[in-house]
Amino acid sequence: MLDIKEIRNQFPVLDQQVYGKPLVYLDNAATTQKPLCVIERERDYYLHENCNIHRGVHYLSQKATEAYEHARQTVADFVHAKEAREIIFTRGTTESLNLLATSFEHLLLSTSNSQLTTDSQLSTLNSQLKVLVTSMEHHSNLVPWQQMVQRHHGRLLVVPMDDRGILDLEQYEKLLKEGPKVVSIAHISNVLGTINPVKEMIAMAHQYGIPVVVDGAQSIAHHPIDVQDLDCDFFVFSGHKMYAPMGIGGLYGKAEWLEKLPPYQFGGEMVDTVSFDKTTFNVLPYKFEAGTPNVGAALGLETAIQFIKGLDRREVEAHEGQLLRSALEKLSEIDGIHFIGESDHRSGLVSFIIDGIHPYDLGTIIDKMGVAVRTGHHCAEPVMTRFGIPGTVRASFALYNTLEEVEVFVNAVKKAAMMLR
Ligand SMILES: Cc1ncc(COP(=O)(O)O)c(C=O)c1O
Repeated sequence: MLDIKEIRNQFPVLDQQVYGKPLVYLDNAATTQKPLCVIERERDYYLHENCNIHRGVHYLSQKATEAYEHARQTVADFVHAKEAREIIFTRGTTESLNLLATSFEHLLLSTSNSQLTTDSQLSTLNSQLKVLVTSMEHHSNLVPWQQMVQRHHGRLLVVPMDDRGILDLEQYEKLLKEGPKVVSIAHISNVLGTINPVKEMIAMAHQYGIPVVVDGAQSIAHHPIDVQDLDCDFFVFSGHKMYAPMGIGGLYGKAEWLEKLPPYQFGGEMVDTVSFDKTTFNVLPYKFEAGTPNVGAALGLETAIQFIKGLDRREVEAHEGQLLRSALEKLSEIDGIHFIGESDHRSGLVSFIIDGIHPYDLGTIIDKMGVAVRTGHHCAEPVMTRFGIPGTVRASFALYNTLEEVEVFVNAVKKAAMMLR
């Protein structure tokens, strides 16, 4: 059994009052809190090891380099990558997705340019440039691809979903036949909580020879990830949503894909040789890591992974599932409540609206009762358009939340609803 009290002791930020009420932190899909071990690891790095890496022959630089590369291996093991060079450190999911959209754009254009001779041939190919996403993507997995295809008069293909927030796999198959160059899909929706059948979707895309990117921002902290079992070509995530510091995250890519893709940013460390005429690039993973990285945060990420691995993951899943079920059951008692996202296969978050009440007003009132939830479109405006709503109230759980907190949250919602009606 998880000892939640002991776990909460490791998160001092939870132990505070806001507006004279104990803080109930239910905005974990936005960012999780950090345990002491992570905070101390980063502090320790700056106290004793701080140094630029890969560049110095001196003791501290070698020590920091070793620690950074050790962290890369820890991430690789955590997602079950074949090799550490398949892990690129980035600032997070958003940067990983921008990296992929930009690199794919250059790869696809360089291939088409070398094969095509006339302008009209090139413009025909560009208009065929398609990327497939789903209708439940976070803007970070939508806008980079949208901008990429629009620069070449191509288009996004979008997998629709039903009223419960479940993707239509028949439509998905039809869209795959239209020949997108890349498929990029959320593992778990940050609005609906739906866990998408990514393994099946990856296998379907591979039948058409299409590479698949999985946006794991909402899954990695809560469910074990095995990139080889999923057989995804890329998996992207943010450290700060998995108990690690902000400013660090990752991109897993199959080595054969990362070898093929051109670099994203240019500068120090990612080069092999440089002259005024020509530059050659470093090997993986350094080819994609231009400039000085956030070493302290990478070490914090490694410690966060060790923290997660130190717990029984099935117990964590069961605990977060229990929090979700309790919230759904208790919230259902409220008149006029509508859940946005009702898949049976879902993760620990709940999004809802209440008839006649603006989500923002509700969020503002329960904030005064100490309850931190998120309101608005959650960086997924097309989801709001799909459901014809301005936004939702979203409560998202993490391993340190308790059933008592769920109760406080639901009571606060009930009280606020009464005040606003
Ligand atoms: C599904 C999903 N993708 C991408 C992101 C973007 O993550 P970040 O802001 O850490 O880059 C988020 C953040 O909420 C998310 O939930």
